[in-house]
Amino acid sequence: MQFDDVIETRRSVHQYADDDIDDDVLRELLEQATFAPSSYNLQPWEFLVLRDEESKRRLREVAHGQEHVTDAAAVVVVLGNLDPSAHAERIARDKFEKGYLPDEDAVESQLETIERRAEGPREARRRWTRQSSTLAAMTLMHAAWNREIASCPMGGFDAEDLREAFDVSEEYEPVMLVTLGYPAEDAPDLERPRKLRRPVEEVVHFESFDPAVRPDAPPADD
Ligand SMILES: Cc1cc2nc3c(=O)[nH]c(=O)nc-3n(C[C@H](O)[C@H](O)[C@H](O)COP(=O)(O)O)c2cc1C
Repeated sequence: MQFDDVIETRRSVHQYADDDIDDDVLRELLEQATFAPSSYNLQPWEFLVLRDEESKRRLREVAHGQEHVTDAAAVVVVLGNLDPSAHAERIARDKFEKGYLPDEDAVESQLETIERRAEGPREARRRWTRQSSTLAAMTLMHAAWNREIASCPMGGFDAEDLREAFDVSEEYEPVMLVTLGYPAEDAPDLERPRKLRRPVEEVVHFESFDPAVRPDAPPADD
């Protein structure tokens, strides 16, 4: 598929065919997801892949009973590591060896910066890990649709229940669920016209931010 088509025709799909996703294809998708950018290249994401019926059933319970969790061939739970220093040493060394960092001092300085962040408030680390892990989730969805495998991103789940159901420690933030599967024939989500997109003129602000254009806002009181 052309990249423009991948972007413009991807939809959140809720109806899936019974076909499984081949192991090698699934691996390729997950590998492509790892090409997503991340803060300091720290790649805080982990992917918990659920394919068997019992696992998907347990996931559905923590996802407010949403049916596409069990209908999809696979669901990927995107987890974000809350410790920025988890892989920092290896990643900083690689940057030095490849010329992205000029010398040992630069490596040490970068590691110290990351260490400070690692000791920062949990809420700041949650935000940090979500930013990068969400980009991995989006990359996964584009990689999938490029192979005509549909997906649906899902934030509708209880993070604490998910931790408990799948034994995920407090060190990881459950960021997003991504269902994956070949779409059902005539899947309504692919047949219907695309949902409204706010026009680019409305959402883009050059040089200064003035979100004044709100066509559906009630008139302001004088
Ligand atoms: C952060 C986030 C959370 C979402 N949560 C859910 C969800 O829990 N269940 C669901 O069916 N769709 C969920 N969606 C999918 C949205 O409903 C969908 O992306 C939106 O309606 C636009 O449709 P489209 O993706 O087909 O363009 C979520 C999307 C995002 C980005």
